[in-house]
Amino acid sequence: MNIVGVIGYPVEHSLSPIMHNAAFAALGMTDWRYDKIAIPPDILAHSLKTLRDNHIVGVNVTVPHKEAALGLVYADILAQRVGAVNTIDLRTNKATNTDVGGFMDDLAANEIDVTGAKVVVLGAGGAARAIVYGLSEAGAQIGIVNRTPERARELFRSLAASGEVMTHQQAAAWGASLIVNCTSVGMYPNGEANAWDMSVPFPRGVTVYDTIYRPARTQLMELAEVNGGHGINGMGMLVRQGAAAFKLWTGVEPPIEVMFATLRGAL
Ligand code: ATR
Repeated sequence: MNIVGVIGYPVEHSLSPIMHNAAFAALGMTDWRYDKIAIPPDILAHSLKTLRDNHIVGVNVTVPHKEAALGLVYADILAQRVGAVNTIDLRTNKATNTDVGGFMDDLAANEIDVTGAKVVVLGAGGAARAIVYGLSEAGAQIGIVNRTPERARELFRSLAASGEVMTHQQAAAWGASLIVNCTSVGMYPNGEANAWDMSVPFPRGVTVYDTIYRPARTQLMELAEVNGGHGINGMGMLVRQGAAAFKLWTGVEPPIEVMFATLRGAL
């Protein structure tokens, strides 16, 4: 049996197992299985060694291990620059970050070209880092709005990316074509919250990409739509980061549509 999985703490609510196991089933890969592996932070290094000793093929890495894992594997340049690992091949101990490609692939699938475009990123945490890195490499003009502006400045500095730290008012007036929500505001079970400051009029005709996928339609997506724009949730990013990991471990082209359908059914 070839075993892969996701390591995190907690890991109970991860949707990756059903998504990957559905993909294995659809392709008749009965000798592959994807597990949830709960690993407390203080035993990460030892646990990775145990997984390798037990011939686990590879793992996805989620909260709180994405940064700490960086120092325990051979991280590629992308993961090093983002400062986080989300996929490890335990056969070689090589690791990468498929969140960046997952996001950029999903923008492409939605026919969104960010080259030269003005893009506002809401948030400056871990999710924002991967997304700002991808946007920056693609040549977007980036503005970050964050509750803690210093954290946004530090994000630009540490990525050696250029851009502006803005308020919601400045972002609304900037003329952005895309707003990406990388905060947790509006995520289940707080679906009534909005990542946009509702005292500031929302710009018209803007596309919102919300990295949240539960609920499937967030308050922010709805706000874009009532203002003549368009809303996209984060399910595509989740599927595509997983698809890239699947390809890396198995060498097999993943069944993207099966993965989408499985997640839609689960949510
Ligand atoms: P992740 O790794 O998922 O990005 P994180 O590093 O905790 O998680 O980052 C969460 C982001 O959501 C941050 O930008 C955070 O703002 P701060 O940097 O000011 O903490 C933002 N965020 C979380 N709760 C928020 C709230 N109630 N209002 C505004 N921003 C919030």
